[in-house]
Amino acid sequence: MKLLLLGKNGQVGWELQRSLAPLGEVIALDRLSVNVLSGDISDLQTLAQTIRSVRPDVIVNAAAHTAVDKAESEQDLALRLNAEAPEVMALEAKNLGALLVHYSTDYVFDGSGSTARKESDATGPLSVYGRTKLDGEQRIAASDCRHLIFRTSWVYAARGGNFAKTMLRLAQEREQLSVINDQWGAPTGADLIADITAHAVRYVASHEDGCGLYHLVAGGETTWHAYASHVIEQAKNLRPDLAWKVQSIAAVPTTAFPTPAARPLNSRLSTQKLQTAMQLCLPDWQQGVDRMLREIL
Ligand SMILES: NC(=O)c1ccc[n+]([C@@H]2O[C@H](COP(=O)([O-])OP(=O)(O)OC[C@H]3O[C@@H](n4cnc5c(N)ncnc54)[C@H](OP(=O)(O)O)[C@@H]3O)[C@@H](O)[C@H]2O)c1
Repeated sequence: MKLLLLGKNGQVGWELQRSLAPLGEVIALDRLSVNVLSGDISDLQTLAQTIRSVRPDVIVNAAAHTAVDKAESEQDLALRLNAEAPEVMALEAKNLGALLVHYSTDYVFDGSGSTARKESDATGPLSVYGRTKLDGEQRIAASDCRHLIFRTSWVYAARGGNFAKTMLRLAQEREQLSVINDQWGAPTGADLIADITAHAVRYVASHEDGCGLYHLVAGGETTWHAYASHVIEQAKNLRPDLAWKVQSIAAVPTTAFPTPAARPLNSRLSTQKLQTAMQLCLPDWQQGVDRMLREIL
């Protein structure tokens, strides 16, 4: 099997380099890969040429415009990266008979209510990022290529910056922290997303009916405040020797931190469809977060 991985150095892309390796030959590109093949997905013509020249069996797209607030003032670029480029990948995949694997987000929903959204539930993005990611999903579906789209949320990885690492730094710098407690979701490790992706690629290679849209998040649910509290408590246990300054973590509403892009309050995603279709289990979010903490501390 020949796999073309785009966005190889992002949180998910980095883990995909590891998880896809046992499936076959992986040609992994990032924005700066410009030698024979180009990994810059903003250049749609070159993107199509790259896919035609590689002729992969599977295209895995981990590249995206993920700067949610910046997207509000970079609408054209967000549209190109999150919708137009995935459409090019889908059309090329259709021509080659290849499978396209793509990632989307909880931000396609409006965040109302308190129940976990299913794949079939109505969407209603609140931001440019959410709208362009939804547009990307719809263009892929309309292309009629074989595809897997995974909507995920609150992604973290041991490599690079993330919310947990920011909390660990602040807990050593400040006595008092304020963290949002009215947004609900599931912190999901890039390693889990990459592992499930590899399982799913193998699954659809041997099952006619596996393609489509799936929610892919860790089990359980939490708020940013409870997540931060968990991270700091675990970190203090693991490294009591570090100079922890934090005395209190105040729970505040989203309105306490105004941002250019609105965030959904309810980012709960039901993963029943994925678990049933592919006979997979999604471990609780604490398992991956605790593992990441052991890695970075
Ligand atoms: N992070 C989250 O919390 C979250 C939540 C829900 C869904 N998702 C989705 O999950 C997927 C993976 O996200 P992630 O967390 O791994 O994001 P990430 O760490 O921000 O990675 C995105 C990658 O896209 C690359 N990229 C940006 N512009 C590009 C271009 N013109 N050409 C090629 N590559 C380009 C970036 O490269 P540079 O580093 O060079 O900019 C980066 O490596 C995305 O589809 C995202 O929408 C993420």
